[in-house]
Amino acid sequence: MAILRLGVIGCGGMANVHSRGKDSEDIKDIIKVTAVCDIVEERAKNAAISWGAEHVFTNYKDMVDYVDAVLVVLPHDLHYECGMFFINNKKHVLMEKPMCNSESECLSLMAAAEREGVVLMTAYPVRYYPELIKMKEIADSGIYGKIMQMSIWTEQYTDPMQKYGEMTWGNTARLGGGQLFSHGCHYIDVLLWFLGKPIRGVHVGTKVGTPWLLEEGTSNVTIEFEGGALGYHFGTWGARGTKMGYDFQIHFEKALVSYNKHSGAFEVRQGMEKLITLDHGRQTREQTVTPIEIDADAADKRTHLEIRHFADCVLNNTKPITNAYDSLQGLRVIWKLYEAEKRNEIADLRGLGLGEKAE
Ligand SMILES: NC(=O)c1ccc[n+]([C@@H]2O[C@H](COP(=O)([O-])OP(=O)(O)OC[C@H]3O[C@@H](n4cnc5c(N)ncnc54)[C@H](O)[C@@H]3O)[C@@H](O)[C@H]2O)c1
Repeated sequence: MAILRLGVIGCGGMANVHSRGKDSEDIKDIIKVTAVCDIVEERAKNAAISWGAEHVFTNYKDMVDYVDAVLVVLPHDLHYECGMFFINNKKHVLMEKPMCNSESECLSLMAAAEREGVVLMTAYPVRYYPELIKMKEIADSGIYGKIMQMSIWTEQYTDPMQKYGEMTWGNTARLGGGQLFSHGCHYIDVLLWFLGKPIRGVHVGTKVGTPWLLEEGTSNVTIEFEGGALGYHFGTWGARGTKMGYDFQIHFEKALVSYNKHSGAFEVRQGMEKLITLDHGRQTREQTVTPIEIDADAADKRTHLEIRHFADCVLNNTKPITNAYDSLQGLRVIWKLYEAEKRNEIADLRGLGLGEKAE
């Protein structure tokens, strides 16, 4: 089988998370990380050890001859220029979320990928979780009827002073938005996947509890979809405690289907009774430490699944599930929600599809 030579660009927090899946059976036969890059040389060197990469760079342009594809794990404001450089050199790009900080950057990156015939995929690992895929199969089967509401809770604590002892790019305009844009993009993408075309929605955010951020650190979104289903996401970076961790719940006409990422419990309930439990047997982590590192279990992200999918798409010339087109739809929803919030209005979310006319 062909092996994809992958370059990793940016060797900070999330790149470390990615590297923990490197020995997974899912990717070790198909991916070889040949080169890594970080402007901080020590981070690049450490990443090279983690990945077993041969080449270490502090300027990503120097890695171009050593890779077929790159995983871009950079601050958001650098996604565009880095992605464009590699696409223009006919390299495939797995781009960390959000794709870019503006619609025009997303569109020109997409046009370049089309022109050069390379894969441009967004790293949305949640879409590759077997539990979410199972939920979608249940929804598509119609066994419990139509969806009334899908609700997603993501509760984290991400104060950089606690985590790194210093402020980071994530607390500046380089982030491109607040919690909804930077983290909620995963879950807007999931809501669109399950519920289809959005009609209208509201977002309200607050900075209370997350004073280190420029924009909102706690975010509530409600969206109405074509056919009447409602989608909801509560995301916070300020949780000093949590009961839910990350929780996904779908109320169907005939049952509640839920998955808790923290405990691994997958349940179907009617009334208060569990119909079936698909429990992964994982222990619920200790909840008494302050501050709580809710997002600390890297294995939970299981990003090797998305990396595997990316490699399959490149090697088989197929379109990714989390392709740039769908990814941009989600960002358009987020930008519309932000605009409407500023105007104190309900956002009209119809006609956000590429090439689709607004009604
Ligand atoms: N999928 C997820 O669950 C998830 C979680 C966290 C972060 N992310 C995403 O990962 C990306 C990176 O976030 P992070 O938390 O790892 O940030 P980070 O600050 O921890 O890491 C970024 C790294 O990029 C390096 N860097 C900066 N400029 C560079 C340049 N010009 N060339 C090479 N290296 C450079 C920095 O030195 C740093 O090591 C973002 O897109 C973020 O949204 C995804």
